[in-house]
Amino acid sequence: MQMKDLREYCDRVLLSEEEIKAMVKRLGEQITRDYAGKKLFLICVLKGGFVFMADLVRAIDIPLEVDFIAVSSYGSSTKTSGVVRLLKDIDKPVNDKHVLIVEDIMDSGLTLKYIKEMFETRSPLSIKICTAFDKPERRKVDITPDYVGAVIPDEYVIGYGLDYDGILRNLPDLCVLKREIYEK
Ligand code: IMP
Ligand code: MG
Repeated sequence: MQMKDLREYCDRVLLSEEEIKAMVKRLGEQITRDYAGKKLFLICVLKGGFVFMADLVRAIDIPLEVDFIAVSSYGSSTKTSGVVRLLKDIDKPVNDKHVLIVEDIMDSGLTLKYIKEMFETRSPLSIKICTAFDKPERRKVDITPDYVGAVIPDEYVIGYGLDYDGILRNLPDLCVLKREIYEK
């Protein structure tokens, strides 16, 4: 792929940096209220979740623990493969903790369904999902996130941690990827 300027991949801004900031603040306040007095363990799904995770933890005003998992679900295209594989697991048991899975975006729901079921077998005190963005129209399996930053239309988005072919995660806004980039 020929490299362009970062902004040239963006067809239009769906959510600006400022709008995302307000969104994260709202989620942080909600999580702070809901988990007050509880042992909260945030588990970020790499790589896409890392930007959201970094902002979200600083918007939560109670003690918490973090860890990271990595799964593969997408290749380099914009369509899900439906196959999920665990590439990196967390280090500690979760049985005495309230687990909150932090994900960048929910699309078919296959990735989160796999991850949620995997953690359920480890018997945490509770298990919930927090996703920055949700495309509910695309759902293929029955799974609903507990915390959603923003519901977005069925379009391929980049920025705020989300990539196309491994790049563009560092765009501060959430943008719709130009069709001409992937329809070649
Ligand atoms: P799902 O298993 O179909 O729900 O897909 C979840 C994963 O696919 C997300 O964690 C993202 O990594 C990726 N994904 C889904 N939609 C998009 C998108 O619009 N842009 C970038 N990545 C996406
Ligand atoms: Mg992801």
